Amino acid sequence: MENIRIPRIVRETSRAHRLKGRSVGFVPTMGSLHQGHLSLVRYAKSENDVVVVSIFVNPAQFGPNEDFAKYPRDTERDLALLEKAGVDVAFLPQADAIYPDGFLTEIRINDISDKLCGAFRPGHFSGVSTVVNKLFNIVRPDRAYFGQKDYQQAVVIRKMAEDLNMDIELVVCPTLREKDGVAMSSRNAYLDKAERAAATVLFRALTEAASAIRQGGTTPLSVTKMMHEVLAAEPLVTEVQYAGVYDIRTLDALTEFQRANLLAIALKLGTARLIDNMLIELQTEQSGK
Ligand code: PAF
Repeated sequence: MENIRIPRIVRETSRAHRLKGRSVGFVPTMGSLHQGHLSLVRYAKSENDVVVVSIFVNPAQFGPNEDFAKYPRDTERDLALLEKAGVDVAFLPQADAIYPDGFLTEIRINDISDKLCGAFRPGHFSGVSTVVNKLFNIVRPDRAYFGQKDYQQAVVIRKMAEDLNMDIELVVCPTLREKDGVAMSSRNAYLDKAERAAATVLFRALTEAASAIRQGGTTPLSVTKMMHEVLAAEPLVTEVQYAGVYDIRTLDALTEFQRANLLAIALKLGTARLIDNMLIELQTEQSGK
């Protein structure tokens, strides 16, 4: 595996592969890798000749009171995992290589960036869109891989790619879960033992909502109420930021079920902010559309 810090060298390496007719798959990460990231690498490896993974804790996507400083970092361990997973290129830029002095550009995808997580993390999705745009321009991948756990991020990046005519196939891969259903996340490291046990409440609220929807006789409003009741019953939850049933593209709260529906939650357990979601497909007769 090649470890490269300089954007120009990654660009040249990637271009050399493409000139030889090799497809390039790209997995952008902020490091602190877990099995969820490694499953993205496996998808990328199965569909491309060459796999590039970036590790960059992007300051622009953290708010002033968020966890940028304490975000878990362990580059040595990450590199060992990537090497073992058969990654070809690890891209580890320094912050000033991504945001040199005088950097003035911001990519902002309106509307969908302001809903759900965006309403609680102002500027977050501009930070994500800007860095992903830069990383795409440096790596120039044929395909890029994102996890469904960050569903809104995937919607925002897909819209950016579409609106800006990017010639990149975006692949959204299923969420990997621990045995008890908790979605894998680097931020699970913030949870103490009691909070980690309480974190199962997200999966419980999602699965109970999903089975209620599948049984029929519910509305998005009644399912949303039920999700809030499940979450309220967990005493360690300090704040429910949102929970409910949403349109898979616009991310608006639904009043009628559709063929595909997004169940999504964001909450705080102690100081950790956790998100999770599920997509529920319905037969046409069950959905309003
Ligand atoms: O999902 C993440 O880890 C980050 O938001 C990403 C896509 C690497 C951009 O910094």
